[in-house]
Amino acid sequence: MDPYRNPFAPGAGSRPPELAGRDVVLEHAKVSCGRAVNGRSARSMMLLGLRGTGKTVLLNEVGKIAEDAGLLVSKVESPEDESLARLLYPEMRKVMRSLSTVEAAKQIANRGLKGLRGFASIFKIDIAGVEVGVEPEPGLADSGDLQYDLPDLFNVIGRAAKAAGKGWILLIDEVQYLAESDLRALIVAVHRMSQEGLPIILVGAGLPQVARLAGEAKSYAERLFLYPEVSALDPAAATLAVQKPIVDEGAAIGKTALNEIVVRTKGYPFFIQEWASTAWNLAEGPEITLDDVVRSYSETLALLDAGFFRVRIDRLTRSEVLFVKAMSELGDGPYAMSDIAKAMERTQSSLGPTRANIIAKGMIYSTDHGYLDFTVPLFAEFMRR
Ligand SMILES: Nc1ncnc2c1ncn2[C@@H]1O[C@H](COP(=O)(O)OP(=O)(O)O)[C@@H](O)[C@H]1O
Ligand SMILES: [Mg+2]
Repeated sequence: MDPYRNPFAPGAGSRPPELAGRDVVLEHAKVSCGRAVNGRSARSMMLLGLRGTGKTVLLNEVGKIAEDAGLLVSKVESPEDESLARLLYPEMRKVMRSLSTVEAAKQIANRGLKGLRGFASIFKIDIAGVEVGVEPEPGLADSGDLQYDLPDLFNVIGRAAKAAGKGWILLIDEVQYLAESDLRALIVAVHRMSQEGLPIILVGAGLPQVARLAGEAKSYAERLFLYPEVSALDPAAATLAVQKPIVDEGAAIGKTALNEIVVRTKGYPFFIQEWASTAWNLAEGPEITLDDVVRSYSETLALLDAGFFRVRIDRLTRSEVLFVKAMSELGDGPYAMSDIAKAMERTQSSLGPTRANIIAKGMIYSTDHGYLDFTVPLFAEFMRR
């Protein structure tokens, strides 16, 4: 059918035509944002799930909800090896500048901008002359320890936002790449804001190991955040995700065809978008048939193999690839470390560094029971192909 009218949106962070099965999370976000602008304590969230389940898309949607509710919105993505101070500095500056234009918040925000000046110099953030004329405020956010300085700055932003009748939502994607000390500082800052009833909300998104990292970072993190699991869609949601966009375009999909996609994708959003998109392009129409769906399966896999799966493995070294290969040859996960070591004819301790590196790259994670598994759904099958 007409590729120009293809509604599907394969690709990282692409907004799907139908954001199916996420109503509970969106409702939480609405309530939190509404409470924040009304000066009430609001729950922060960590959206946790495997790759390609729709965390980034959901985070963006939460951003829209927040904007509609009247909050100032900042969104950052944590790269590997970047400090949180550097990542947040420009966002905090933007928010303070914006609040400094509101009469009621001006004084607090201006003091915050001064604090930020000292913060930038102690954390060696290159501000390239943008802040000429602003003198630092000694004693505000300039200890050099993020655990003290970040809550200081959040406090200023929170008070200024409250005075302005606004709030601030900070969206952080790929939270698993934050250093543990940075994550701890972030949690401390959010905790302080919630204790002081200031309108700042953090919504993070990341791989499942974040729950444990956050727990280790600060024991109260467990109560501080809601942890909605962003997993594969259930059959009803997956059905909606495929069918509704097709019907909205004035086309149709047969019942068995629809079922084939729902079952074989196991409800994984990245797979659904790719397959539905390929099937649409290949079909004569106006109804997508089971034959269209079956015929487009191999092309879908080829696209995923060359894109979604490939980019993950490209980041591994040779010895890391061997480790991952050994895992996949054991069948589907989770995998015991002892089995992997045995398959590789190595000792567990000699594999420790490799294991740690692959975890740091976000390719595998250690599950609740001390086993390892892939962060990419259906990855073992890809390796075997
Ligand atoms: N609720 C949903 N329903 C249908 N498709 C979705 C949904 N959420 C995400 N997608 C699709 O899944 C793919 C991966 O989404 P993304 O947000 O990049 O995942 P993640 O950030 O978890 O890796 C995108 O093509 C997106 O359009
Ligand atoms: Mg993402």
